[in-house]
Amino acid sequence: MLQSRPPSAPRWTVVFLLLVVLSCLFVPVVSVKHENFKKCDQSGFCKRNRQFADDAASSSWTSPYALDPASITFKNGQLSGNVLKTLKDGQEKVKLPLAITFLESGVARVTLDEEKRRKGDIVLRGDSKARKERYNEAGNWALVGGLEASSGAALSEKAEQGYTKVIYGDGGKHQAIIRHAPFEIDFQRDGETHVKFNQRGLLSIEHWRQKVEVEKPKEEKKEGEEEKEEEKKEDEPAGEDESTWWDETFGGNTDSKPRGPEAVALDITFPGYEHVFGIPEHATQLSLKTTRGGDGNYDEPYRLYNADVFEYEMDSPMTLYGAIPLMQAHRKGSTVGVFWLNAAETWIDVVKSKSIANPLSLGVLGHTDTQTHWISESGLLDVFVFLGPTPQDLTRQYGELTGFTAMPQSFAIAYHQCRWNYVTDEDVKDVDRRFDKFNIPYDVIWLDIEYTQEKKYFTWDPLTFINPTKMHKHLDKRDRKLVAIIDPHIKNTDNYPVIDELKKKDLAVKNKDSNQYEGWCWPGSSMWIDCFNPAAITWWKGLFKYDSFKGTAPNTFIWNDMNEPSVFNGPETTMPKDNIHFGDWEHRDVHNINGLTFHNATYQAMLERKKGEIRRPFVLTRAFYSGSQRVGAMWTGDNLAEWSHLQASIPMVLNQGISGFPFSGADVGGFFGNPSKELLTRWYQAGIYYPFFRGHAHIDTRRREPYIAGSPYTEIITQALRLRYQLLPAWYTAFHEAATTGAPIIRPNFYIHPEDERGFAVDDQLYIGSTGLLAKPVTQEGQDSVSIYIADTEPYYDYFDYTTYQGAGHHTVPAPLDKIPLLMQGGHIIPRRDRPRRSSGLMKFDPFTLVVVLDKAGNAKGSLYLDDGETFDYQLGASIHRRFSFDGARSVLTSTSLGGRATAKTDAFLKTMAKVRVEKIVVVGAPAAWKAKSQVVVMEEGAKESQRRKPVGFEYFEGEGRGAAWAVVRDPKVGIGKGWKIDFA
Ligand code: GLC
Repeated sequence: MLQSRPPSAPRWTVVFLLLVVLSCLFVPVVSVKHENFKKCDQSGFCKRNRQFADDAASSSWTSPYALDPASITFKNGQLSGNVLKTLKDGQEKVKLPLAITFLESGVARVTLDEEKRRKGDIVLRGDSKARKERYNEAGNWALVGGLEASSGAALSEKAEQGYTKVIYGDGGKHQAIIRHAPFEIDFQRDGETHVKFNQRGLLSIEHWRQKVEVEKPKEEKKEGEEEKEEEKKEDEPAGEDESTWWDETFGGNTDSKPRGPEAVALDITFPGYEHVFGIPEHATQLSLKTTRGGDGNYDEPYRLYNADVFEYEMDSPMTLYGAIPLMQAHRKGSTVGVFWLNAAETWIDVVKSKSIANPLSLGVLGHTDTQTHWISESGLLDVFVFLGPTPQDLTRQYGELTGFTAMPQSFAIAYHQCRWNYVTDEDVKDVDRRFDKFNIPYDVIWLDIEYTQEKKYFTWDPLTFINPTKMHKHLDKRDRKLVAIIDPHIKNTDNYPVIDELKKKDLAVKNKDSNQYEGWCWPGSSMWIDCFNPAAITWWKGLFKYDSFKGTAPNTFIWNDMNEPSVFNGPETTMPKDNIHFGDWEHRDVHNINGLTFHNATYQAMLERKKGEIRRPFVLTRAFYSGSQRVGAMWTGDNLAEWSHLQASIPMVLNQGISGFPFSGADVGGFFGNPSKELLTRWYQAGIYYPFFRGHAHIDTRRREPYIAGSPYTEIITQALRLRYQLLPAWYTAFHEAATTGAPIIRPNFYIHPEDERGFAVDDQLYIGSTGLLAKPVTQEGQDSVSIYIADTEPYYDYFDYTTYQGAGHHTVPAPLDKIPLLMQGGHIIPRRDRPRRSSGLMKFDPFTLVVVLDKAGNAKGSLYLDDGETFDYQLGASIHRRFSFDGARSVLTSTSLGGRATAKTDAFLKTMAKVRVEKIVVVGAPAAWKAKSQVVVMEEGAKESQRRKPVGFEYFEGEGRGAAWAVVRDPKVGIGKGWKIDFA
């Protein structure tokens, strides 16, 4: 059994395998294999474009791109025209069709293509069967809406010299000022420029050209070989670095580049913006560092090229497993952003240019511009521009384009227990029993690759998983689920119907010679399903049916791993770029989307396991792209059991949230290595704040299920898990918000307090949804307090003992090992379920507790969303959505409906929940005037006459020291789906 991946190698030999096995006998030094991954100057197009940027920094530089004014037309919200690139000879011009679409949402989209490639008027090198166009289908995978062109967008009537101006956006607040020569665009909101394209002149579209073959000596030519006429032409003067135009070698793999150089690049400046966020996935801080060197900065651009970068390093712009090319710039009063819709390898340089305040001209403040430089290897230049103005506008508009996060089943947001591997079905049952024995809640147990027979997916190892059906039934007793891994590489072996069908139906990715591509992964020799192909999706769906994947049940869910794709002997541990996908697109063009296509196919399959059984799928993915949020959750891959990795997970998960893919988490405990008990405990205390919450461990690590740690660790971890379970109603409500508005599930300071400049870079604490719950996980060894940053002047109360923290700035909050630093911001009502249970499924009909946390003015509000947690009936109205508000002036707490018009499904759902009631109301920061009170009056809609004004017991508790006073209403028995009022006056 191979337990760690070999470095990439051009050819796999037995000798090499032996060496790897031998090297496993020594203690491995755990760190990323740098030599496996390119730096910018090892990636031809990145190097060329960075050089181009350096050249352009000279004062004599003018961008050779100009918009031909005579070509401009404007129709139905779209401006079209031709940008002409003048070649170095000053004569020849390359035609680049431009389209700027102004969308109803106030977003603008700029696309630039290349006429020759678009028309297919080029010659491919070698015998390549690849498509000739620039890849123009990224939108088919990433975009699902928001594309309606604006009916109100219009050309400005004022004639401008050298410019074209378009007015668009709500109330005509936005303007695009398109300069013709050189071609530049300024995007303005309310007359002020927020985003600039090509201000630094770094726009670069590597146009198609023919290779100039160096004449070979006559005798080397093979008999009958003719020199192709078209290969003699030259249109690019000497002087450019052509060394990687026609082929490129890295780590012993040569990329044949049949279309020659074809990169697209553009500089995008955010004037007056000091902070930029986004472009996951990187192990870095939330506010992105600059990348052109200098103290504490990076000297490599952020890279987006989905790859299996296990044991990844901290504080690095290196690429990881997924890519979301969305960047947002934030400053006081404004958030704007860009979405670079390109699926090829991409690098992004970030530079901040500071202008210093001029002491002589009063009132002229210094400011910082963030300048970015986007470089992709191929495809269209296709960029969306968002003008905010709030962080909420940005996440909503991006979500309208790429889709909101799918509403998960309720179990999926509870705790998941994984390891590589639970080794038998008896082992699974045993782990399950121990969780019960120790009264530790959990919902899902996971099976890694060893459950299969020799890594053949859709099979069970007959010696170790003897009765999977019985195992599923066992788990179902407590409403628990099983997640099984299914990877995209299919073992290339005899007697395996899945590979036979893949080959026969011709559904695998092809190599450059159009033969089915063969590479190396967990099973050894493998082939990869090509999910760009609709026929492959259809076939894939069939494999998951219960009568096909025997031994699975309605409580089986799926984990998709290695879908970057990871190929052990491929360049940079992935597929050769000249491989060919469905539609004859090169892998180069679609690489970053590949993971999404596989994830999507599995999601589709999970919808169709059995006719008539439609449940929300749960599919975890490692590789992702914009749009992956529609089909499942992600995790941050193979981290280490080290404090630094725990620390990095917080900004990484926050970044996922503001980048449209909030259902995310990191392996709790750290994948590689054995965490100390303290680290494991702290990791659980932090993990309860990951929207996707799973403990996982490498096959070589010691077992570390929460019950193993022993006292007091097991008890402390159990408390943390119970806290997650207690707050599941609040989490589910936050997921619903994400699913309907695009808002992150856990939120960074800047998102909640967009005006608070001091907090823009804060990325080690988080808010849960709109609940006002503010958590700061302990991420350092031996720490017994944390410093929590409070942005406003509201009171913040300790979740457990109501100690009050008030005043903008840092506050020290005690955090001994058994204490989780968690505050409640005044002004919120938090729904909970307080009865400890073994799984979330068993809490379905449990009563609720509402915690009313009063703000300075004595008010509070909150919401609760509930549905069956399983089916899609919520889309037909089967849900409860309540707004709770406490009006301090009148001392009345009310529950009103936030749901839309009731349907038959709403009524049916309400009926199932009729007995579910609020059993307790806690008011934190209770006014002193309530001291003498012993009852409150409850009024519920539809109550019998005699019950109209029902007195209910009430208790007031004086706070001690810094502890706030609180009050408790015991068992008001109001229905969770009903309208009601409680009068505290
Ligand atoms: C990859 C995954 C890891 C998994 C392992 C075996 O390394 O990232 O989570 O356990 O493969 O499937």
